[in-house]
Amino acid sequence: MNNNAMEKIETVSVDELRNVQLERMKKTLQHAYENSPVYKKKFDEAGVHPDDFKSLDDLAKFPFTTKKDLRDNYPFGMFAVPQEQIIRIHASSGTTGQPTVVGYTQNDINVWSDVVARSLRAAGLSNKDIIQVSYGYGLFTGGLGAHYGVERLGATVIPMSGGQTERQAQLIQDFKPTALMVTPSYCLNIIEALENKFGTAKDCSIKTGIFGAEPWTNEMRREIEDRLGIDALDIYGLSEVMGPGVAMECLETKDGPTIWEDHFYPEIIHPETGEVLPDGELGELVFTTITKEGMPVIRYRTRDLTRLLPGTARTMRRMDKIVGRSDDMMIIRGVNVFPSQIEEQILHIPQLVPNYQIQICKKGHLDTLHIRAEMRRDVSETLTPQIAALLKAQIKTMVGISVMVEILPEGSLPRSEGKAQRVFDIRKSA
Ligand code: DLL
Repeated sequence: MNNNAMEKIETVSVDELRNVQLERMKKTLQHAYENSPVYKKKFDEAGVHPDDFKSLDDLAKFPFTTKKDLRDNYPFGMFAVPQEQIIRIHASSGTTGQPTVVGYTQNDINVWSDVVARSLRAAGLSNKDIIQVSYGYGLFTGGLGAHYGVERLGATVIPMSGGQTERQAQLIQDFKPTALMVTPSYCLNIIEALENKFGTAKDCSIKTGIFGAEPWTNEMRREIEDRLGIDALDIYGLSEVMGPGVAMECLETKDGPTIWEDHFYPEIIHPETGEVLPDGELGELVFTTITKEGMPVIRYRTRDLTRLLPGTARTMRRMDKIVGRSDDMMIIRGVNVFPSQIEEQILHIPQLVPNYQIQICKKGHLDTLHIRAEMRRDVSETLTPQIAALLKAQIKTMVGISVMVEILPEGSLPRSEGKAQRVFDIRKSA
């Protein structure tokens, strides 16, 4: 028997959903105030009390939480239960300074497994599937978060983790997984390994890909779907809020991740003023966990830029594809540029491989971008100058900036084994 029926909460009326959220939010605000000294202090300083929360709009009165709060209270200062109730720790390395640490109770792990299992069902998967998890296992939430969800679904999990790309390809051939959970950039690397080993990746057993942990464009979706012969779906999450499975794209609509709003309450704010923006407007995504015990977060600023969209396949609202993180925005001679805009242009040129690097350099006093891309092996080298000129012109027209382009032979740039690093700031080192 397949077990991919929806949960009741996924299709209740909007009013019913808002009532559930209201009750859960009340409890969460009380729990945070009573059990987390950090939140007690933050609420007191902002002059708000959980009793001031009477409707969901009242949430705007409460202070934000940022990564700095987690760093300032490193390692366990944000926990809101006694340590003996914490059964798991995860941490994200972060590029600078302290890692951010999160802790889960048994109940939190159950909820997390449930939302990942729900996400897999939304992707059309059931207990009949064999799912290879190629997100990294360990302190990163990707591997274990996905793993527990697959087990909760009752499907068969292959706990591959990241790395050993050749072996990943061989085991796909041997174990015949029907679904793959991995970052989109590492998926491309696995596709290359399958193509090198077996001539094509299209004929492999995988039918569904569950991709997230980094931004990826719809152009990248099409590339992966074509080369692997699959449906590629977007899963979103972050460790501070839970891990993978905060939101998941539904197979039937493929129109951006549905936020599992019965556990994670979303807002979009203006990144500079902090003002709450109406649904549909682009801004910074903010989450309040409404069922988490171990480390509840109130109005956590994700730095991810997107918009909230009405529900389609489910009652819950969707989020648009993430444009980028506010930290990733490059300002090049006054123009705001996200790596995803460059990715779109590279993927529009069929002679180029979907792997690239963006270097931010200084030319005189001005910042400029140096784009490094690779030409497909089967394209004549004599076309290099034309392809470089084409990419430069496309970026000028579509993104509005002049860049330098370098086209390298296929295989020249490093391959991702997890979250890809695309942008390198070489202004200081140059
Ligand atoms: O990346 C959790 C995760 C694992 C999500 C596996 C999906 C799949 P962190 O390491 O804390 O957690 O990084 C969270 O990654 O704020 C976004 O900037 C980015 N991100 C995650 N999913 C997506 C996505 C995990 N689907 C940060 N699209 C987030 C774009 C994403 N960016």
